[in-house]
Amino acid sequence: MAAIIVHAGAAAHKTVLQREGCEKAAQEAYKLLTEGKSALDAVEVAVCALEDNPLMDAGHGSVLNAAGEVEMDAMIADGSSLNYGSVAGVRNISNPISLARMVMDDTPHVMLIGEGANLFAKEKGVPEVDPDELVTAEAKEAYQTFKQYSSVVDNVFNTDDNLGHDTVGAVAIDLHGNIAAGTSTGGISLKRVGRVGDSPLIGCGGVADNGVGGVSCTGHGESIAKVLLAQRSLSTLQAKNGVDAEGALRESLEYMLERVGGRGGTIMVTKNGDVAKHYTTRRMAWASVSKTGQLDSGL
Ligand code: GLY
Repeated sequence: MAAIIVHAGAAAHKTVLQREGCEKAAQEAYKLLTEGKSALDAVEVAVCALEDNPLMDAGHGSVLNAAGEVEMDAMIADGSSLNYGSVAGVRNISNPISLARMVMDDTPHVMLIGEGANLFAKEKGVPEVDPDELVTAEAKEAYQTFKQYSSVVDNVFNTDDNLGHDTVGAVAIDLHGNIAAGTSTGGISLKRVGRVGDSPLIGCGGVADNGVGGVSCTGHGESIAKVLLAQRSLSTLQAKNGVDAEGALRESLEYMLERVGGRGGTIMVTKNGDVAKHYTTRRMAWASVSKTGQLDSGL
């Protein structure tokens, strides 16, 4: 039994193309799972595909901070060992998710930030890219259209217009029952330099535990961090005896909306191999390949 689900961010507006990008990423990763590759490998491959897609706010396509620069966050979580790796505020590389994996696999740490993360990337031989290569016309337009961070949050997450986009992620279970989750983001346009959102924080932007399931989140990072959305979703599932994954995601997102006024989206794979998604924004591009091998996708 293997399954995977991916998302291209809550508040997606280039929906059809983003949905196609999700389908391709999910199928590529599912093939690896059927060949016996690990959930961690599948999640890394899926998130890399989404980071390489300029329609997504991660890797190539990342939005710009208040100084007009790209600063990216990512995390990967291993549900078998509860180990995880994350990076925050990294620049000049294409695939922060792979750097997060290196932090997990090759250091005794769980998170590296800013200059230290980029130094580690250099040490590991990760190719540097020209910062301009990561920047799209759409990211520049969002930077120029929205004058301040609060209007980005209002427009991207809190209105029906859903201008802008946010974050990518993947959750998978492999043939051995191991679960992994990964999340990667350029953050939110016009964020303060040095601002870190939910995405690289364990239990906030993602989490995985073989005994329950795995989750990746998207949406307003400050809200997600305040309610520990990923862990809350898993704990809610556990309280439901591991069934009704969609209900666990819905209740957790509704709690976030009620308690801190934030909107977002989540995807989940349970220890039984069930996939689920839910979002409180108008749209979220997603795709899954279920344990029966069926491809589904939506907006
Ligand atoms: N959810 C991504 C962020 O707020 O940075």
